[in-house]
Amino acid sequence: MELIFASNNRHKLEEIQSAAGERYKIVSLADISCYDDIPEDQPDLLGNALQKAHYVYEKYRKDCFSDDTGLEIEVLDGRPGVYSARYAGEQCSFEDNINKVLNEMRHHSNRKACFRTVIALILNGKEYTFEGRVDGTILRSRQGSEGFGYDPVFLPDGYAVSFAEMTMEAKNAVSHRAKALHKLIAFLNTQHG
Ligand code: IMP
Repeated sequence: MELIFASNNRHKLEEIQSAAGERYKIVSLADISCYDDIPEDQPDLLGNALQKAHYVYEKYRKDCFSDDTGLEIEVLDGRPGVYSARYAGEQCSFEDNINKVLNEMRHHSNRKACFRTVIALILNGKEYTFEGRVDGTILRSRQGSEGFGYDPVFLPDGYAVSFAEMTMEAKNAVSHRAKALHKLIAFLNTQHG
């Protein structure tokens, strides 16, 4: 069974295909020759995930899903949140984003944060959503060089190392995206016996 994943991120696609198993063929936007700049301008993660999935469904009328992730910092009222990718500006790097967060947090002792992923699925025309979350704290400086994004400054609860000090396998065992993905797969598995 084919499911379009509204993304061209190869890394995510492989991760999802390996979790989904052989019953589902996960197809990227490039695979269906969709090169549209899909709008993603909603005020929250759920809105963005639904917007992307609906865009693809309206255009192709095929089962599809999309994801949206953000880092939510308690003392910053949930920022960067939906703005995580471009927090420091349109053309910014992961480095710029981390610098901005560390700077904004420099006088705060409450370092609580979480990563949240929302997946929106449209299956047979019906909408379903799945969420994964990992709680942790924001470090005062970078630790580690693995991973991407805010990984070097995120210390997941219960661990003495940042996401950027974990192997990909270790991170995938606890991550927000993996949790949301597992909920999606568990749901899909109930749909076809
Ligand atoms: P996306 O919705 O998966 O594209 O994620 C949006 C932004 O959130 C990314 O550009 C990263 O800055 C950040 N982000 C998402 N997932 C992670 C993660 O697992 N570790 C660190 N940063 C992440």
